[in-house]
Amino acid sequence: MKKARIVGTGCYAPEAVLTNRDIEKKVDTNDEWIVSRTGIRERRIAAEGECTSDLAAHAARRAMEMAGVSAQEIDLIVVGTITGDFPWPATACLVQEKIGAKRAFAFDVSAACSGFVYALDAAVKQIQCGGVKKALVIGAEILSRIVDWEDRNTCVLFGDGAGAVVLSAEEGEHGVLSTHLHSDGSYWELLYQAGFGARHPASSQGLDQRLPFLKMQGNEVFKVAVRMLTEVAHEALTHNGMECKDIDLFIPHQANRRILEAVAKRLHLRDEQVYINVDFYGNTSGASIPIALDEANRAGRIKPGDILLFDAFGGGFTWASALIRW
Ligand code: ACO
Repeated sequence: MKKARIVGTGCYAPEAVLTNRDIEKKVDTNDEWIVSRTGIRERRIAAEGECTSDLAAHAARRAMEMAGVSAQEIDLIVVGTITGDFPWPATACLVQEKIGAKRAFAFDVSAACSGFVYALDAAVKQIQCGGVKKALVIGAEILSRIVDWEDRNTCVLFGDGAGAVVLSAEEGEHGVLSTHLHSDGSYWELLYQAGFGARHPASSQGLDQRLPFLKMQGNEVFKVAVRMLTEVAHEALTHNGMECKDIDLFIPHQANRRILEAVAKRLHLRDEQVYINVDFYGNTSGASIPIALDEANRAGRIKPGDILLFDAFGGGFTWASALIRW
């Protein structure tokens, strides 16, 4: 069976930077509170008119350029997102059009902050089945459009961005070794966006109730996230006969620094094994792992043969990991 190897990475973050000081002008908060509770110092915010598919297409082009793969060679595009351009059609189809990947088939995956790892799993399985030779896997979000800018509990946490990888079907040892996906729908109310959809169709009353904005019970999310991120990281290692010390780079979903440090401590990881960039992007949901991966890759932090562990948790709840030999 062929392996799905990551042969190119790319990311894109909108130009506008929103600092904690800027948010102090919108809600009753302060830089010290935000940094001490979350580690976040600033986040990027998409420009008016800029869409999720634009961010995704920028990241995809950069990944294809690194891979030396043309849009015509792409067989499949999977986008992990919860803030697509439209409820439908899929943002992946819009990306296909933007980059000119005429031969590809394209679909979205909705798994919130686990969206990129879920999307990766879908593409890896397509490659293993033999029908797909080159795939684009993208995580892209414009969370600033669903954040309630009057709610200090949530608005400080999130940011916009996109990251992408090109997967290639290859023989040999290098590539995605395994993926591990889980969900538990009994937790859906702890982190969700109520409207507008079939349960709450569009209405002005719904707008007054602020249904189109993200809702979260932060404390509960925190506890379950730390437990599940730790469990699913162990699952990937055990499945491959490895231990925490074998990880060259741990790339977790960048939710907030306290969650990441709690997970790293439980996994007994040294600081240099863990990639953290939440300080500069906030939580970009499905985009956070591929943005971090691309940064680490371009900074020369990853060498051929390195073992990488992706670890994600998000609304649903969903959680997932992927072990990669680079
Ligand atoms: N500025 C100042 N004060 C604030 C702010 C703010 N931005 N937000 C909340 N507070 C206040 C609260 O109102 C509360 O005040 P009170 O005691 O007078 O009621 C106080 O701070 C403490 O609130 P808590 O919610 O208990 O604060 P906590 O220490 O739990 O930190 C946080 C909140 C940062 C949201 C934390 O729960 C967390 O990190 N949760 C994880 C959530 C997360 O990362 N979600 C992302 C999506 S899921 C994922 O990606 C994994």
